[in-house]
Amino acid sequence: MVALIGGSGRVGQRLRHALRGRVRSLRILDLVDPGALSENESWSQLDICDQASTTDALQGVEAIIHLAGFPGERPIEEIIRVNVLGTHNVYEAARRLGISRIILGSSNHVTGFYPRDQIVSPDGPMRPDSFYALGKCWNELEAGLYFEKFGIESFIIRIANASIDPEDPRSDDRSRATWISARDLAQLVVIGLEEPGIDCTAVYGVSQTPYEWWDNARAYELGYRPLDRGSDFTQSANIQSSSPQNSHIAGKFQGGRFCSIDHDGTVRTRRSVGGTHSRPSGSEQNQT
Ligand SMILES: NC(=O)c1ccc[n+]([C@@H]2O[C@H](COP(=O)([O-])OP(=O)(O)OC[C@H]3O[C@@H](n4cnc5c(N)ncnc54)[C@H](O)[C@@H]3O)[C@@H](O)[C@H]2O)c1
Repeated sequence: MVALIGGSGRVGQRLRHALRGRVRSLRILDLVDPGALSENESWSQLDICDQASTTDALQGVEAIIHLAGFPGERPIEEIIRVNVLGTHNVYEAARRLGISRIILGSSNHVTGFYPRDQIVSPDGPMRPDSFYALGKCWNELEAGLYFEKFGIESFIIRIANASIDPEDPRSDDRSRATWISARDLAQLVVIGLEEPGIDCTAVYGVSQTPYEWWDNARAYELGYRPLDRGSDFTQSANIQSSSPQNSHIAGKFQGGRFCSIDHDGTVRTRRSVGGTHSRPSGSEQNQT
């Protein structure tokens, strides 16, 4: 039995579909109803902010895929309450119940403040681009702690863009080139579930990409062979330097617009104290 926490969300729904036939029994745990279930699925409502209910809901589970929480920028208090403490409750439940494998849905934004011309290894220093990313850094560090101290193994997937499809009118060059299809993400998740002795390993969750931002050698060593390529849909000739908006910061760093979102949701156009701000347009959501 595998638990999919956050299985009612955008990524969770796609993953459920792509995992059909590959996981014997899936227990979906989420705040909200996932809708119609297939034969091998069950569902229970769960708020990961509650430690006791999280432990109860995970009884009898062999491995956890954890995708629950806010998927974009939020006030720091909300990130700490849900993404940091909620994820801590998941790890703590695993420790109490003897569950030894967690697939952790992290984000490429943990290294969002690397410049676009630098190749980043998952083992290098993090450079978070938002409070959201700071929460993911905590999650990854906690995964390391729970491995070193308690032997709970984690396969950390720094997901790039798993929600805006390349054909979607809201997509831009960055979201297309950083896209991971559901079947490629499912490949990584299955590696995370089945590979023996994974320890605490981080990889980038991206399909084939023209961006040379991430050294994903470890994923390839483990057998990852992405089948899809979002940038086939790209119109821009110069994808490496193109930006989702013509803002200096978003175009310079790997995290794109996450690097420019200020505490009040405005988008900064320069990196200076007080800076110059502009209101985000409809397509510039503070997500993924
Ligand atoms: N969508 C992307 O492209 C992308 C990119 C990078 C990382 N991620 C990560 O993948 C995960 C899923 O992202 P998503 O886009 O599907 O987000 P989403 O908001 O669509 O789904 C998140 C799910 O978590 C559930 N949830 C939220 N708070 C909860 C709580 N307290 N208890 C239980 N369930 C709770 C929500 O109900 C929702 O179903 C997140 O961790 C996100 O940070 C997503």
